[in-house]
Amino acid sequence: MIDCVLRGYLKGDLEAMFRLDEVCFTSQFRFTREMMRHSAEAAVARVVVAEKDKDLVGFCIAHVEQENMGYVVTLDVDPAYRRNGVAHLLMKCLEAECRDAGCLSMWLHVYTDNSAAIRFYERMGYRFLHIDKDFYGEGSDAMVYIRALNSA
Ligand SMILES: CC(C)(COP(=O)(O)OP(=O)(O)OC[C@H]1O[C@@H](n2cnc3c(N)ncnc32)[C@H](O)[C@@H]1OP(=O)(O)O)[C@@H](O)C(=O)NCCC(=O)NCCS
Repeated sequence: MIDCVLRGYLKGDLEAMFRLDEVCFTSQFRFTREMMRHSAEAAVARVVVAEKDKDLVGFCIAHVEQENMGYVVTLDVDPAYRRNGVAHLLMKCLEAECRDAGCLSMWLHVYTDNSAAIRFYERMGYRFLHIDKDFYGEGSDAMVYIRALNSA
């Protein structure tokens, strides 16, 4: 576990978030700058950033949806800081923010071949619901996961 600082989003984070997303995802899955800005600055957005020595090493974004659901838009951790509990800290903080905003559960899509993220979400208590066929484009399916927020 590394000692990183968690904080909310600042407009000045956008470029570092975009660059980290480029490292974390292949072109099929990554955000454009505009998509990233829109996702992070939407009225429904909740964003948590992890900093280590003032460098952005991870972030996650959720949107608070109708029906009291929090949707995880993205979760990115710098490869140099992985397996140190950064994503765990980010998700716990994001879930708490969504719970405070009235969400009763969180849900998300994850690419069927993204075994690291699938393991991570299952370890976080997320439960597989169903396959969303072609969610990421033809032949690229997503798994849908959900977790109730009534427990810590
Ligand atoms: C998935 C991701 C966010 C995990 O970040 P992380 O900071 O390394 O995760 P944590 O250290 O908090 O991991 C917590 C637990 O999740 C599981 N886990 C995380 N990464 C794993 C991996 N590569 N393989 C197997 N299990 C993994 C483990 O159980 C881990 O606990 P342990 O290290 O004590 O065994 C990171 O690999 C990443 O940014 N990947 C690219 C972007 C991505 O796929 N995002 C999710 C898209 S939906």
